[in-house]
Amino acid sequence: MARVTLTQFLIEQQRSAQHIPADLRLLIEVVARAVKVISVHVGKGAVAGLLGSADSENVQGEVQKKLDVITNELLLQANEWGGHLAAMASEEMEEPFPIPNRYPKGEYLLVFDPLDGSSNIDVNVSVGTIFSVLHCPEGVTDPTAEAFLQPGSRQVAAGYAIYGPATNLVLTVGTGVHGFTLDREFGAWVLTHSDIRIPEDTKEFAINASRSRFWEAPVKRYVDELMAGRDGPREQDFNMRWVASMVADVHRILARGGIFMYPMDEKNRANGGHLRLLYEANPMAFIVEQAGGAASTGHQRILDVQPKGLHQRVPVVLGSKNEVERVVRYHAEPAAR
Ligand code: AHG
Ligand code: MN
Ligand code: MN
Repeated sequence: MARVTLTQFLIEQQRSAQHIPADLRLLIEVVARAVKVISVHVGKGAVAGLLGSADSENVQGEVQKKLDVITNELLLQANEWGGHLAAMASEEMEEPFPIPNRYPKGEYLLVFDPLDGSSNIDVNVSVGTIFSVLHCPEGVTDPTAEAFLQPGSRQVAAGYAIYGPATNLVLTVGTGVHGFTLDREFGAWVLTHSDIRIPEDTKEFAINASRSRFWEAPVKRYVDELMAGRDGPREQDFNMRWVASMVADVHRILARGGIFMYPMDEKNRANGGHLRLLYEANPMAFIVEQAGGAASTGHQRILDVQPKGLHQRVPVVLGSKNEVERVVRYHAEPAAR
C-alpha cells in the first residue's frame, strides 16, 4: 500500500467534510518542518556540544538547558514569517512573541513547550516538543498575553513530537489522533498510527512516587490501592513507569493505555500544580480526549479550565478513561479529603 505522508493526510483533512482551513494546514506543516530540524539537533547530542545548561533561567525560575534555548529559537524563526500567526507564546518566554511587522499576520496563535523533559537531555533519554493552536480573538491585531487565555476546549489543533529511538509526530485537529514517523532518509513524515485509541482500562500508572509524602488523600488512596496489587481492593497487579518526560509518558499511554498523574501536592500547591496549563496540560488533554481517554485536574475537566495567566500551572490526571474517572471519584468523596 502507498505511504501516506503528513502533507497528504492534511490535504485529505482539508478536503473532507470535517475540513481544516488551508492556512491551519500550512501552519501545521511549518511546525512539523521545525520539528524535523529539532530532531536533527537533539540527535547530535554531545557531538555538537548541545548538552548541558545555558547559564540562564526562564520565567519559571528553571535553569535553561542549551537545547531549551535553541529549540525555542528554531520554533520562533520557522513560524514568524509564514503569515498564519498573530503571535506565539512559549514556556521559555515571559511574554508572547508578536509577529514582526515586516511579515503578514494571520488569525492563529501558536503555543509551545519547545523541549519537554529537558532534564533527560544529558542522559540520552526521550524528550519532545508540545504545541497547541488557538484562534486569535476577533478584532485583536496585537495580541498580548490575554489573547492566549482561552480554555483548552477552544484549541483547533494540538500535537507533540517525541525524539526517541524514532521521531514521532502525534497530532489532532479534532478528528481523532494520528501518529507519524519521521523517515530520516527521505525527510518525510509517514502516517504510521492512524486513529489512535487509548484502552479504557489499564494496568500501568505513571507518577513521581518520590513525592508521595506530599500527596493529598485521594491520590494517596488511589496509588496505595494500585501498589497493593492482587492483595488489595483492585485484585490485580499494576506496573509503574516514570520517564520524567511528559511526552514519553503520554506516548506510552497512547500506545498501550495507562494513567499519568502530576497531582496537586503540598509542595506544589502554592504554584497551582507542576505542569503548565497552556504548554503541557491543554494540548495533551486535547490529544488524550480525542483518543478516547480522559484528562482532569482531579476536580475539573482540564479543557474547561479558564486560564488566568500565561504560565499557569495545573494538577494533571490523564489517560485511560476508567482509571481517570476513578481518581476523580476519589477526589469527590468527602471521606477522602
Ligand atoms: P520541562 O522539561 O518542559 O520543564 O517539563 C518537565 C515536566 C514533564 O515533562 C515531566 O513529566 C515532569 O516535568 C518531570 O517532573 P519530575 O522532575 O518531578 O520528575
Ligand atoms: Mn515540559
Ligand atoms: Mn520545556
